[in-house]
Amino acid sequence: MNAPKPQPTRRQFLHAAGGLAVASMLPNLEGKSFHIAGDDTIKVALVGCGGRGSGAAVNAVSVQRGPVQLVAMADVFKDRLDDSFTNLQKNIADKMDVPPERRFLGFDAYKHAMDVLRPGDVVILTTPPAFRWVHFKYAIEKKLNVFMEKPVCVDGPTSRRMLELNTQAMQAGLKVGVGLMSRHCVGMQQLAERIKNGDLGEIHLMRGYRMHGPAASSQSVQKPDDMSHLEYQIRRFHSFLWASGGCYADFYIHHIDHLCWMRGALPIKAQGVGGRHYKTNRDGVPFVDQNFDSYAVEYTFAEGDKFYFEGRCIEGAAGIYSSYVHGSKGVAVVAKSGDFGGPQAIYKGQNIEDSNRQWQSTDKSNPYQNEWEVLIGKIRDGKPHNELKTGVETCLVTAMGRMAAHTGQEITFEQMLKCDHEFAPDVDKLTYESASPLMPLTDGRYPIPEPGIKKEREF
Ligand SMILES: NC(=O)c1ccc[n+]([C@@H]2O[C@H](COP(=O)([O-])OP(=O)(O)OC[C@H]3O[C@@H](n4cnc5c(N)ncnc54)[C@H](O)[C@@H]3O)[C@@H](O)[C@H]2O)c1
Repeated sequence: MNAPKPQPTRRQFLHAAGGLAVASMLPNLEGKSFHIAGDDTIKVALVGCGGRGSGAAVNAVSVQRGPVQLVAMADVFKDRLDDSFTNLQKNIADKMDVPPERRFLGFDAYKHAMDVLRPGDVVILTTPPAFRWVHFKYAIEKKLNVFMEKPVCVDGPTSRRMLELNTQAMQAGLKVGVGLMSRHCVGMQQLAERIKNGDLGEIHLMRGYRMHGPAASSQSVQKPDDMSHLEYQIRRFHSFLWASGGCYADFYIHHIDHLCWMRGALPIKAQGVGGRHYKTNRDGVPFVDQNFDSYAVEYTFAEGDKFYFEGRCIEGAAGIYSSYVHGSKGVAVVAKSGDFGGPQAIYKGQNIEDSNRQWQSTDKSNPYQNEWEVLIGKIRDGKPHNELKTGVETCLVTAMGRMAAHTGQEITFEQMLKCDHEFAPDVDKLTYESASPLMPLTDGRYPIPEPGIKKEREF
């Protein structure tokens, strides 16, 4: 029970699309172009070779506007790198060239992998979010375009740091894609346009639900004796706030993101509740993770309207995984199931019934692939592309909801942005021998949120 299980993967081993070598020019930092003589291949390095990273690598090399080639891989754990390499070889062997000398291990592996690339190439950042700012900083130094997964930061200080780094990235003309893939769901894009055009009338209320059993590594019992706290927490990053922002940030961000997008605004404050109903697993072994197993957060917008988000990771409780926008003229289904599952639809009145349906989406394209078509297209065309400011803002909205529930206080967006509690201040200095940013208390448990007692910080 103690041994960490490999994450369920999200590999989407798509068939590589026929490469249309439409451009032999890559943009330089000023938005002009530089020519890599006789070579129009965009090279890619993968930093964080887990489930999503492997999937993103496949998406990258499958773009219509290829050629794109995977040339380097980096991870901190050999088993993860080896598994990813073997799986990728089975699926995209003709679009990768990653010999052993370009497979890097260690906390500094990211540097070696990025050193393989040329300015204008692309690095994929898909480690746990704690390391995002460290890796992004080096990518900017190396003048690389970036695809990074959500969450892009976990607390106030790392949010501010990412915004500062993003200013540098934009000044350098680098393209930055962020894995909030709902934004590349065509049905949602059409719905957002319809809402903007007034099809729902005035928006009064939004609702988002992600409720299922414990997922990925969101629940953890004590580490095995032969593993360090640091290794355990990185492997089970959804359990620990420093590594991931916890399940609230890591899982619930997609609904929070796409509902704020539909609303066309960010909430100004949040208050919420949550709790740990089960202190042990069904064998009586204590849980040591930092997550609550249910959350209910009320977000408020400047105009006073509300957005309610409910999240739950409890086995056996009802599963609900969908989102809605209610307006004065009707209601919209934004995600019918999952993070972006369609069809997206608009109904007259407030009852979601077939007879009331006024519109529904039909597009079936894959948002995980679409986000790469846009990123590589912008790189080839030398056009601006930056999804990071939105990514950081969405992370702040998730963090303010999480902090409201964890502290039992109302938290404003401004408070969250200015919050000084950095969960893992020296994450850039970690080595295999380091203590973890989160060490156990005298009773062997890790510190956890205590609403009403810990009011200024989450643990
Ligand atoms: N957009 C989506 O729908 C989606 C889906 C899944 C995951 N994600 C995001 O992708 C990221 C990775 O999630 P995952 O499910 O692939 O996790 P994972 O555990 O499968 O992969 C993470 C990988 O990063 C490696 N790693 C950890 N620290 C590292 C470091 N400092 N340097 C190099 N490698 C390091 C791990 O060993 C592991 O191989 C998370 O931020 C997660 O939220 C997004």
